[in-house]
Amino acid sequence: MSYRVAVVGGTGNVGREMLQILAEHEFPAKEVVPVASARSAGMEVSYGDDDVLKVRDLDKFDFKGFDIALFSPGAKVSAVHAPRAASAGCIVIDNTSQFRMDPDIPLVVPEVNPDAIARYKKRNIIANPNCSTIQMVMALKPLHDIARIKRVVVATYQSVSGAGKEAMDELFNQTRAIYMNAPIERTRFTKQIAFNCIPHIDVFMPDGATKEEWKMAVETRKILDPNIAVSATCVRVPVFIGHAEAVNVEFENPIDETMALAALRRAPGVSVIDHRADEGYVTQIECAGEDMVYVSRLRADPTAPNCLSFWVVADNLRKGAALNAVQIAEHLVKHELAV
Ligand SMILES: NC(=O)c1ccc[n+]([C@@H]2O[C@H](COP(=O)([O-])OP(=O)(O)OC[C@H]3O[C@@H](n4cnc5c(N)ncnc54)[C@H](OP(=O)(O)O)[C@@H]3O)[C@@H](O)[C@H]2O)c1
Repeated sequence: MSYRVAVVGGTGNVGREMLQILAEHEFPAKEVVPVASARSAGMEVSYGDDDVLKVRDLDKFDFKGFDIALFSPGAKVSAVHAPRAASAGCIVIDNTSQFRMDPDIPLVVPEVNPDAIARYKKRNIIANPNCSTIQMVMALKPLHDIARIKRVVVATYQSVSGAGKEAMDELFNQTRAIYMNAPIERTRFTKQIAFNCIPHIDVFMPDGATKEEWKMAVETRKILDPNIAVSATCVRVPVFIGHAEAVNVEFENPIDETMALAALRRAPGVSVIDHRADEGYVTQIECAGEDMVYVSRLRADPTAPNCLSFWVVADNLRKGAALNAVQIAEHLVKHELAV
């Protein structure tokens, strides 16, 4: 079987990575079409190392005859065009926040809750979780399976690529301006991002949390277990690619470092690099361009019973977004669309 695939937001950070991964994985596509705004119509984007594809205008694009559409054009655009694609018979895998908490739409990390994918049929839409949630639940799932998680306290260190291609330019331009003693321009971030950390991602909620922090809590509960309490502090850091998280987890049942490390080593998509020595842990620089979720610095937390702390790092554009979406598409091809 061979499928027709549209990549909506195909000129963006996530969309370009989707095209790269579809090509790398030799996804069984007879046609792949990048779609973006009218601004980019006619432009060429890479498909793998050797091919280029012409970008089409989303407003004029007809999804009829397409099997799968990978969407990452921002929530407002997905709100309009994802249901349009879905009603044309195309299965939408949406990377934006638009549909994640809709009870009729599955929110999926294939290594964690693959069975949820089958529920796409109600709306023809599957939601991809937030990048920070994906890498955290990848590490939590094998631990939850052996000791039941009660509560998670997490602080994130999120790269600027998570805020789109213009945000990457802002970090670059501000850094250059500082070295050249030129004025600093701010557009995407609320404060200077070069040589700084900003504890503010997405809008503030009435309880004082930011929406990014709220997403980590509600998405973890939807994907993994509705009884897990999550307290998150999300911080933007001056790193181009890769998110890191310092995670503290309280369990219902006894768990020690050996049990936890063994469970994590068995988990698909997770790599444990934990040597308690110089360079014996993974940082953002090393995870950029990689597919695995890396766990390091795992240790018992002596301040409370049944508690562990660890550090988890992943490429937010790959496992945090594009790779997860392509894995969902691969699951559909293998289990749902195969006849
Ligand atoms: N970056 C991450 O780590 C990450 C992770 C998970 C989810 N997401 C989500 O994925 C979405 C995209 O993120 P990104 O980082 O790829 O952003 P980005 O680099 O800014 O790219 C945005 C993409 O959306 C397209 N677009 C914008 N407005 C459009 C419109 N009116 N009609 C059609 N296409 C339009 C852009 O096309 P033009 O080039 O033509 O403007 C571009 O292809 C966001 O909702 C984000 O929250 C991102």
